[in-house]
Amino acid sequence: MMQRSLSASTSAEQEAPSIEGASTSDKRLPRIAIFASGSGSNFQAIVDAAQTDPEHFGAVVALLVCDKPGAYVLERAKAAGIQSAVYTPKQYENRELYEQDLLQRLQAEGIEWIVLAGYMRIITHVLLEAYPGKMMNIHPSLLPSFPGLHAVKQALDYGVRVTGVTVHLVDAGMDTGPILAQHVVQVEAGDTEESLSDRIHAIEHGLYPAVICDVLAGRLAPIRV
Ligand code: GRF
Repeated sequence: MMQRSLSASTSAEQEAPSIEGASTSDKRLPRIAIFASGSGSNFQAIVDAAQTDPEHFGAVVALLVCDKPGAYVLERAKAAGIQSAVYTPKQYENRELYEQDLLQRLQAEGIEWIVLAGYMRIITHVLLEAYPGKMMNIHPSLLPSFPGLHAVKQALDYGVRVTGVTVHLVDAGMDTGPILAQHVVQVEAGDTEESLSDRIHAIEHGLYPAVICDVLAGRLAPIRV
């Protein structure tokens, strides 16, 4: 892997580092890293949008960060020709040291935005300070309802008639950052966690790429920060 001594750019206007094999147009686009821990269906949806029409999407997916060796998302990245950085956080003394190591890689790759897509970790001040307002996450509920793990099950257990999807900026809390976009999904009688998750995933796959595109283009920002 080619290492570059670059710090993360702060503006989409700044020129991205030159990448072997990148097209001329790609070089002007901000470089994003997607963080994922599991299946990566959202990773796939974002990559599909980015690779189908890079100019319209407005960013290059330059890196997958995965904290679970063996996760299926790694196969998706390989198939899409996107490089992966695989970490085992347990091997670090603490979360900050893990993120410092990760940050070096992000900066070496000239990453300007971080997109969390099924990344099952709280982000520490190390990455938050390096990417202020430049990190987003997707969560399978209408936040602030049902944050954290098993959001679909939480909604079913509560008996709500509607749930949905939230895309938000990341802060130090668990699913607490400023909201960028939400989409309602109806709960149907007889829904199981699987059936409701399937409908939520289908919404996520359309919503997340569209939100990323709008945020990076400056067309979308939180109502309250
Ligand atoms: C999605 O439901 C997302 O909202 C949540 O984690 C899930 C990841 O699914 N943060 P996938 O790995 O993208 O299929």
